[in-house]
Amino acid sequence: MFRYLTAGESHGKCLTAIVEGVPAGLRLSSSAIDGELARRQIGHGRSERMQMEKDHVEILSGVRASVTIGSPICLLIPNRAEEKWESHPPLTALRPGHADLAGALKYNHRDLRNVLERSSARETAIRVAVGAVAKRFIREVGIEIISHVIQIGPARAGSAVKLISNLARRQAEIDKSPVRCIDEKASQSMKRKIDEAKRRGDTLGGIFEVIVTGIPPGLGSYVHWDRKLDGRLTQAVMSIQAIKGVEIGLGFGYANFRGSEVHDEMFYRKGFRHKSNNAGGLEGGVTNGEPITLRAVMKPIPTLQTPLSSIDLITKKKTRASIQRSDVCAVPAAGVVAEAVVAIEIAKAFQEKFGGDTLQEIKRSHRAYLKGIG
Ligand SMILES: Cc1cc2nc3c(=O)[nH]c(=O)nc-3n(C[C@H](O)[C@H](O)[C@H](O)COP(=O)(O)O)c2cc1C
Repeated sequence: MFRYLTAGESHGKCLTAIVEGVPAGLRLSSSAIDGELARRQIGHGRSERMQMEKDHVEILSGVRASVTIGSPICLLIPNRAEEKWESHPPLTALRPGHADLAGALKYNHRDLRNVLERSSARETAIRVAVGAVAKRFIREVGIEIISHVIQIGPARAGSAVKLISNLARRQAEIDKSPVRCIDEKASQSMKRKIDEAKRRGDTLGGIFEVIVTGIPPGLGSYVHWDRKLDGRLTQAVMSIQAIKGVEIGLGFGYANFRGSEVHDEMFYRKGFRHKSNNAGGLEGGVTNGEPITLRAVMKPIPTLQTPLSSIDLITKKKTRASIQRSDVCAVPAAGVVAEAVVAIEIAKAFQEKFGGDTLQEIKRSHRAYLKGIG
């Protein structure tokens, strides 16, 4: 079964992960993973570190001649930032909105670097690498994942993403926008809002959407709480730094309607279909064959260049929050991270349903199931 652990600090030697349960026979190269790492680094409003360091993954095990062999895959992303954080003087000015205070109290740290080095979103680079492995796997069985930005601060996209059969092409169009938004006019306005926040030493959050297509009905289960795929997906997305809300399908919008207005009516044409997809592809914690749609809100970045008032961890005296090199807005990147964690959960659920040690075995079982359900 697909599972993984990660380790590494922002300015330590590297980030690393061990991914276990990837079937044998999957084509996998570091360049495919690097492509996803590069997507995590794009977006108007990112810090200079994103331009300074182009992430590159090394595959240390589990792959031979660009094909997985069934054994654990060890991934490593070297950190190239020049600073050696071990020798830095202690950092003690707490940042509101970051993990500084809660982390220092929990682990009894007197230097906040011990907290921020691991709590920071640098860690998401390795999750994106693991997600790239999961994406390679689910693409083999016809599942595609894209994400796009809907809102940054007050600037909101008007047009929805139209799903086409070649989703990769749509993703390429979205990635061309400096804020990963399909609506050209809204993109410009989002960019302006980011520039404005930057000038003020401030930051912005926003909303993105993840869409998964080609997903068979029957992934996840209604029979027990921890097998429900809606719960698993939302936990995975909520675990991304700064994500404060996740909704599936119509989500919070459900509150505005009567049942007769929102439940997706069904029909049968070469398979069971729904006339609408307010449920976002999940009913009872199980995929129903429609695309999964999920939205998440990211709070504004906590590190401000015009810092808020705060307290010093050691002296307990009033001070200003510490200033670090930081993003002004990272909503476009958070969407890419969400694609990765969603891909991982889908890969797990797919293996639970169609388990096997080789890609061939899994594909066979998938085909037989689809034939069986008509
Ligand atoms: C892709 C990405 C980039 C981020 N960049 C920064 C950053 O440059 N500076 C910062 O203070 N927080 C940044 N964050 C958010 C913090 O990591 C996050 O707010 C912090 O770890 C506290 O966790 P919480 O907001 O989930 O409570 C980023 C988050 C993501 C997903």
